[in-house]
Amino acid sequence: MRVIIEPDYEALSKWAANYVANRIIQANPTPEKPFVLGCPTGSSPLGLYRNLIDMYSAGKISFQNVITFNMDEYVKLPEDHPESYHSFMWNNFFKHIDIKPENVHILNGNAPDLVAECNHYEELIAQAGGVDLFMGGIGPDGHLAFNEPGSSLSSRTRIKTLTTDTIHANSRFFDNDLSLVPKQALTVGIGTVMDAKEVLLVCSGHNKARALKHCIDGDISHKWTSSMLQMHPHAIVVCDEAACDELTVGTYKYYLDKERGNL
Ligand code: GLP
Repeated sequence: MRVIIEPDYEALSKWAANYVANRIIQANPTPEKPFVLGCPTGSSPLGLYRNLIDMYSAGKISFQNVITFNMDEYVKLPEDHPESYHSFMWNNFFKHIDIKPENVHILNGNAPDLVAECNHYEELIAQAGGVDLFMGGIGPDGHLAFNEPGSSLSSRTRIKTLTTDTIHANSRFFDNDLSLVPKQALTVGIGTVMDAKEVLLVCSGHNKARALKHCIDGDISHKWTSSMLQMHPHAIVVCDEAACDELTVGTYKYYLDKERGNL
């Protein structure tokens, strides 16, 4: 695992966006061999998306031959609800770039058969040749996508019931009214993310410090599902100083030294 420690949110967002853009450019995607990008929602990736949009606007990158698969979506929240992940992705990323709408994949939380929807999503990812780079954030309880504590570390796309912690955390997007937060979501599994060729997580702020500690400094555990990334051959976590507040001094120094080339 690589851990990149940047001073603040702006710097980590820039680092992550540059990394993603370089990967897409290096892959030189074509309609026959597109680049497959996994996309998260939440506040953490907003800066990353903003930087990618700026690079697109400056003519440095194109998304014409990029296929996306989003991580998750709420169950039974109308697609056009301002807090649906469909709305989030179009408003914060897709409508600002040259991605082809038919190349965008987001789980349908209103599908008549949710199990079939999840299975079909896995098939679509396989048909696309797998995910080249899965971007992600981390929930305060260490979850990845909506793989809440206790999720199987080999799980595939499925329905998950949200924990009280997550319902509280996400109530800020629903007028702080817990009753308005959907109680279930469709989410890719930890196994789905682990199958990606690369995984890049962004993690910012003191309220993520405990989650980051368990993700990179603790044991692999289904209680902190992002810790499974320790088993991934190409995982990168990009964080800011505030998110490092609970790392051991040894871990913190090791990753700083390693990235500075001192080790
Ligand atoms: C939601 C999403 C996760 C995201 C998490 C953290 O629960 N399903 O994918 O990582 O929120 O969100 P934020 O970045 O806003 O803290």
